[in-house]
Amino acid sequence: MEDYFSSFNSFLARFRVSANLFLSQFEPLALLLAPLLTLVIAGALHSLLSVVHDKGLKATLIGLFMTSVKLIPGIKSYIDAEKQKVVDKLQSGSKSKREDWRAELPTTGFGAGILEEMKDAKNKDVDWQGKCSGTVYIGGSESEGHFSLINEACSMFAHTNPLHLHVFQSVGRFEAEVVAMTADLLGSKDKASGGQICGNMTSGGTESILLAVKTSRDYMKMKKGITKPEMIIAESAHSAYGKAAQYFNIKLRRVPVNKEFKADVKAIRQHINRNTIMIVGSAPGFPHGIIDPIEELGKLADSYGICFHVDLCLGGFVLPFARKLGYPIPPFDFTVKGVTSVSTDVHKYGLAPKGTSIVLYRNHEIRKHQFVAVTEWSGGLYVSPTMAGSRPGALIAGAWAAMMSLGQQGYLENTRKIMEASKMIEKGKEISELFIIGKPDMTVVAFGSSRHLK
Ligand SMILES: *Cc1c(COP(=O)(O)O)cnc(C)c1O
Ligand SMILES: *[C@@H]1O[C@H](CO)[C@@H](O)[C@H](O)[C@H]1NC(C)=O
Repeated sequence: MEDYFSSFNSFLARFRVSANLFLSQFEPLALLLAPLLTLVIAGALHSLLSVVHDKGLKATLIGLFMTSVKLIPGIKSYIDAEKQKVVDKLQSGSKSKREDWRAELPTTGFGAGILEEMKDAKNKDVDWQGKCSGTVYIGGSESEGHFSLINEACSMFAHTNPLHLHVFQSVGRFEAEVVAMTADLLGSKDKASGGQICGNMTSGGTESILLAVKTSRDYMKMKKGITKPEMIIAESAHSAYGKAAQYFNIKLRRVPVNKEFKADVKAIRQHINRNTIMIVGSAPGFPHGIIDPIEELGKLADSYGICFHVDLCLGGFVLPFARKLGYPIPPFDFTVKGVTSVSTDVHKYGLAPKGTSIVLYRNHEIRKHQFVAVTEWSGGLYVSPTMAGSRPGALIAGAWAAMMSLGQQGYLENTRKIMEASKMIEKGKEISELFIIGKPDMTVVAFGSSRHLK
């Protein structure tokens, strides 16, 4: 039991840190609410289950507890009250700021003079450059040069829209190349991939995941006639899967991680039924920075003929390079049998501007279910590959510029530095009250404390 509880505790510790960091304005409400709810539930769980030693029984009890806890009127209202407090605080925070915020267009425009006011506003923001881990991924002494290069690339293409590919052919090419270069990093040229890897750029990890889930749902409907879709994820998988489940009417089954904080393959197998459309593995997961057993999950998905999405949002631009540098990196990409789709964020360790990510599929057969065609519109036949209609060509150009300017060497050098920094941060476990959660595979190190958080 002790280790189960520490997992909760440490989960808290990590999110606490994130939440504080982000509190200013960067992250949504969700990050603030998650630790609060977990705190309440974890505390109750701890006292309730401290006597149970058997692991299977424990998992069942925890499941039961999670369901029933919401039914207890006292607990529910307590959670609601805590949630409300956070919401109120956020609301009042922004209200006080709003006093001098504009609510109308200025009668006479400021013209170019407005840029000065913008510079002022920017200077008043917190000094985040190189200081907000997990928020802005571009740091270090060379960051100035990299930022200005990307800014120039973006501004050059600021008014382009790849919805109209015949007009903006340059952007169309950039996008295709960003997708192809990323696919290459993730095994597209390896024989085992089947040689048909394809994909599209999206606005971020969440959109990539939403699209992969929607595509898997529709592919499984076609392939197996599944009309009441379910998906199975580890508790450590990103909240975007919860969002996808809500958006696309998919039943979500969340399975606790194993002792090593990895997706529990056996437990996931037990949840597979005839409505299962997909399972998910993270490489690594956001909470602990640990890579799930991708090969085993791939085997499982393959044997049931269901989809398997690998979340490489965080790892896609680190793992291929870390492996080249000699770090022991388990299999994670399209060379693994059973992987049907992958998401990876260029706007994280790809060091591209915010709003850039990539979703990739094993083949065109699967990917075609991503596209949406609207045929009955009076505006004409409308076919759109991603969620957006019009899209910012500037960001595509920015991502292309980031990848082309850095090249293999640039990413290798960056990866070497952040891997070394992570190993240094891991030494924090020498502080007697801290411990590391599991064995971090990459550049996210989650700490726990043996002391209760109060
Ligand atoms: C960041 C992240 C996401 C979501 O990406 P956004 O770009 O914030 O939408 C999903 N999964 C993992 C593992 C991530 O690190
Ligand atoms: C998506 O991929 C298709 C097929 O390769 C391509 O025609 C299209 O331009 C891409 N679109 C986007 C938005 O990435």
